Amino acid sequence: MAFNLPLIGPISALSIFGLTIGATIIYILLNALYNTFLHPLRRYPGPPLWSTTAIPYTLANIKGELPFRVLAFHRKYGPVIRIRPNELSFTDPEAWDDIYGLHSGRRQNPKDASAYTPPMPGVERGIVLANDAVHGKLRRIYGPAFTPRAVEEQSGMVMKYANLLIEQLKRAVEKEAVQDMSAWYNFTTFDLTGEFAFGEAFHCLENGGQYHFFLTTVFNGVVTGLRMMQFERYGLLTALKPFIPKSAMKPKEDMDQYCKELVDRRLERGYDPSTNDVFNYLLQNKDPEDQLALDDLYENAIALVVAGSETTATLLTGTTYFLCRHPETLKKVQREVRTAFKSDEDITVKVVNDLPYMIAVLCEALRIFPPSGFGFPRFISAEKGQMVAGHYLPLKTVASISHHAAYRYERNFARPDEFIPERWLPEAPAEFANDKRGVLQPFMVGPRGCLGKNLAYAEMRLLLAKMLWHFDFELADPADEWYEGLKAFMLWEKDLLKVRLTPVER
Ligand code: HEM
Repeated sequence: MAFNLPLIGPISALSIFGLTIGATIIYILLNALYNTFLHPLRRYPGPPLWSTTAIPYTLANIKGELPFRVLAFHRKYGPVIRIRPNELSFTDPEAWDDIYGLHSGRRQNPKDASAYTPPMPGVERGIVLANDAVHGKLRRIYGPAFTPRAVEEQSGMVMKYANLLIEQLKRAVEKEAVQDMSAWYNFTTFDLTGEFAFGEAFHCLENGGQYHFFLTTVFNGVVTGLRMMQFERYGLLTALKPFIPKSAMKPKEDMDQYCKELVDRRLERGYDPSTNDVFNYLLQNKDPEDQLALDDLYENAIALVVAGSETTATLLTGTTYFLCRHPETLKKVQREVRTAFKSDEDITVKVVNDLPYMIAVLCEALRIFPPSGFGFPRFISAEKGQMVAGHYLPLKTVASISHHAAYRYERNFARPDEFIPERWLPEAPAEFANDKRGVLQPFMVGPRGCLGKNLAYAEMRLLLAKMLWHFDFELADPADEWYEGLKAFMLWEKDLLKVRLTPVER
């Protein structure tokens, strides 16, 4: 016995290990065979390896390349393609409502949670991933803070940050003409979203254009969260957690922690009749049904900051870049803004809605550089399956529309890789007559569409109009191809955008 034990021990362990590996390989092979020859989606075109296993999709997602790969596949295989064994990607405008809309006789198609940053542990009432009943309630609770009227009431606050951006940027330009516009837009939208949500800015602008640690934390936290969820796709997150280095989890933990502090501080201040921030709406609502637990307030605070700041800043950075790369378009939009007003004071949240060419520029920026570039995957929930853009999808199939792919696809837009705002004008040149404008849905459609759309429009229009009125701008390095090589997760990983600014003398 004493002789045998050490021998049997290692042999048994080795055998078990070998058996496990063997069984895993057999499982993967059988699964691949099933996905290729028997799966209900087997007849849909797509890259063969991606239809066989989800691994290439997951790797592309982790590397921030998924939207680019999906576009390349649409260009090769057509408008409806298989990008994971169980997922179809669409590009037709009608697919928006079919996948994301609300239809009588069936419930909403639920989100694929593995595409999102995980919520704080134990939280089920975060607006982004809540179930339908809780989500409906959250939209009712948060909705009043986002109506067109509520946003109009906040126009003074939007104006305050637009003016602060211009004032601080002018000061900075006196010292150094070349500025990183990606950072300045981030400072502005974070400050603004902080005040909009909690009545407390991050003071990036007031401090002369300085990063608050929370800005980088938010982006890193979201990307870490997304990468973590890629493991969860295979049910591995819990098993692997002990092996993930603490430093890798830190950005997400820091983001959660700081949001808690923000919420705690705001709750301490309580209801404040002098402000209109989102928390005031929550604190004003005394209906016992509508009271949220502290953890839910924390989680939703993160959702607001992430959804509200990175997105708008990304759009403005992209708009500035594409305008710099197209000096004729830049001149045209400058002319529109500079002739529409007599003075800076005339530029208000309301009147910037009457600048058709500038609005066309922003539409084109949303098309060519949508702040959320990837496709938000949804599970088909109808027991008997449903039709999406004329195709039958069985229950539990995943369906998505990749913003980047649908907006750059030649069957939807003529000259899709070119920045041509004219395509959005009522008198668009004939070559754009067949553009499928309805496919552009950067804020999504249906009950889970963007809650902050009204605020986003007010911000982007006012900030861009003010920038165009006050500054001439060009790329510091005219050959800078800022866009090339960016990574696209749910948000874009932006590089510095170095722009030479010259204040306009009047
Ligand atoms: C250009 C700017 C923006 C774009 C392109 C954008 C885009 C989106 C998209 C695509 C979604 C849906 C995500 C999903 O299906 O999971 C979304 C949701 C959301 N957005 Fe925005 N967004 C922008 C600005 C804002 C702003 C300024 C706010 C508020 C401060 C905001 C707040 C939200 C919230 C709270 C949700 C979750 C809605 C829900 O699940 O019911 N967004 N946004």
